[in-house]
Amino acid sequence: MYKFDNNKKKFYVTTPIYYVTAKPHLGSLYSTLLADVACRWYKLKNYNTFFLTGTDEHGQKVAEAAFKANMPPQEFVDSFISDYKKTWNDYNIVYDDFIRTTNESHVKAVQFWLKKLIESGDIYKSFYSGFYCTPCETYVTEKDINSNETVLCSSCARETKYISEESYFFRLSAYQDRLLKFYEENPDFIIPQERLNEVISFVKQGLKDLSISRTTVKWGIPFPEDNKHVTYVWADALNNYITAIGYGNPTKEDQFNYLWPADLQIIGKDILRFHAVYWPAFLMASELALPKHILAHGWIIVNKQKMSKSLGNVIDPQVLLDNYGSDIVRYYLTRYMAVTQDSEFNIDDLERHVNSDLADALGNLLNRMIALSYKHELHEVKAPENWSTKELELRDSFWSYLDIIVQYMQDGYFYMALSTIFKFINQVNSYFHYKEPWKIKDKNEFNEVISATCHSIYSIAILLWPVMPVKMEQLLKTLNINLELKTDLISELSQNRWDKTFMLNKSELLFKKFDLNKEKDQEIKQNTSGATLVKDKVNSTDMSLENIKIEDLSKVIILTGTIISCQEVPKSDKLYKLQVDFGDYGIKQIVSGIKKSYSESDLIGQQNIFVFNLEPRKIFGLESHGMILVSKVSENDNKIVLVRPIEKVQNGTRLS
Ligand code: MSP
Repeated sequence: MYKFDNNKKKFYVTTPIYYVTAKPHLGSLYSTLLADVACRWYKLKNYNTFFLTGTDEHGQKVAEAAFKANMPPQEFVDSFISDYKKTWNDYNIVYDDFIRTTNESHVKAVQFWLKKLIESGDIYKSFYSGFYCTPCETYVTEKDINSNETVLCSSCARETKYISEESYFFRLSAYQDRLLKFYEENPDFIIPQERLNEVISFVKQGLKDLSISRTTVKWGIPFPEDNKHVTYVWADALNNYITAIGYGNPTKEDQFNYLWPADLQIIGKDILRFHAVYWPAFLMASELALPKHILAHGWIIVNKQKMSKSLGNVIDPQVLLDNYGSDIVRYYLTRYMAVTQDSEFNIDDLERHVNSDLADALGNLLNRMIALSYKHELHEVKAPENWSTKELELRDSFWSYLDIIVQYMQDGYFYMALSTIFKFINQVNSYFHYKEPWKIKDKNEFNEVISATCHSIYSIAILLWPVMPVKMEQLLKTLNINLELKTDLISELSQNRWDKTFMLNKSELLFKKFDLNKEKDQEIKQNTSGATLVKDKVNSTDMSLENIKIEDLSKVIILTGTIISCQEVPKSDKLYKLQVDFGDYGIKQIVSGIKKSYSESDLIGQQNIFVFNLEPRKIFGLESHGMILVSKVSENDNKIVLVRPIEKVQNGTRLS
């Protein structure tokens, strides 16, 4: 149970919970890191902090990935947890709880929630027919459908699946006006504020009730007293933010009431609609307060494309860690991946900034100050009785910067706070050069310059600690200070009259410079150039390289068949409806997306190879009973080529 001190303020921060279909990548690290930076900031302010992260383990996407990996879903999701925890640990991300949506306590609390909303009438049973995007786990509403084309998902543009089933619905339409009123009254609900406009215009277009159960998916939380239905993965996942801290659990009521509402929920812009529309509506229906702020950051892009598992351009945080260490990556991500927009991750850029910002501007200032003091045998640096004009100017200027930094940190613009801290670092450097302490003969005058520099560096180290905790603690040790989080250190910085005494210790070089002309190691070059690592591929959902047993292969029936008819599918520019003759196995209808590559006359009368025993599914409202085998021209070229026997064989001949 979380222990809290009633005399302190609290700060509750969350990250998205990650789909466990692969190991964490730099994108997931980014969201989690921002939460850690925010949490550490409030630790500096001596708040009771609570940091929640975890994994989203149910739903069709995860079930399909487990199926591809030939593992039971629970075993499959279990296999990724240690990778997540290790990565967060390696990056000094200190979370208070790691929720897994397969935890029994979460399952029970979600069922409690469902029951409550069924009783209040906010959830009701009806019938759903429409399109579903598995990669996004989203229902595509009619207004998203591009009428004269295949039904593509409005957010990822991939083809959706048609589903038609009995379903429970959440009465989202009833919350449209309350949501709009809430946005109007809380313009700072979403950070950055500009993103609120897209949300408002989405809600203004009209909200339909949301299907929140599936009967075709088995991997999920069963509905209370109606086990045939499994909870829609987003209704399951969003509730993690309350179930983890005790919602629905009478023994944790105090903790829940203390921590909820969350103060900051960090997400990527891709999942803003879920968090800014569905989630607040769920909370309103549950009579719970809404989170104070949602920070929706942009994407990390590599070679101008969003970094994602399916594109195969993911950067492995472990490779970066091995090459640069945690704090440098933390710094580069927090400062140069601006939350307001998409940002290109570039390894040369990272090294350049380490050299200029960390090694030159900050590290060098510290080294010169310590070396000079040792040369003058000054180890104990006392503050002067009265400061001179230049030093008072420096202190005043720090206080003005501090106000701006505090504001940026509170508003979630961590990258702007960092750039302001570096403005001050540059000013301290200018002061140091202006004073030329290496030329000063007078002891008191020399001491004053060193003391002003020490006070400045001390303040900088505190402010940079949320981003680079290890390096800043090392820096503070050179000033003989152990960081203690027992008082509000940020307020102290604003009240500090610069009256501290510092003992100076020599330490190892804080930041080493990179030789920018040196050829990079193969590992880092490969990992950051957008190429997929084989190491990653093995774990990815796209392809498992594990061997399978011959019995597994025999489950798939692959047959030769001749296409005897080929028709266009109305409103689809990709699909054909094929009738295929499988000899003794009969004639089957197969719907296939090959229209862009082949004309009807290319296909009719041709013999091809098909997966014969694929579970029937509806595509564009048409039943499809198998799959034609095709190959892409290459991994990077989506043009497809049919796979055919090079000589005619009997229809219905088995290949596997
Ligand atoms: N499981 C859902 C979230 C449920 S929260 C109740 C999900 N998971 S995810 O693993 O696909 O992605 C989660 C988050 O990872 C994104 O919202 C974003 O915060 C982060 N990122 C994934 N790829 C990213 C980039 N390329 N760049 C930056 N962040 C990215 O959606």
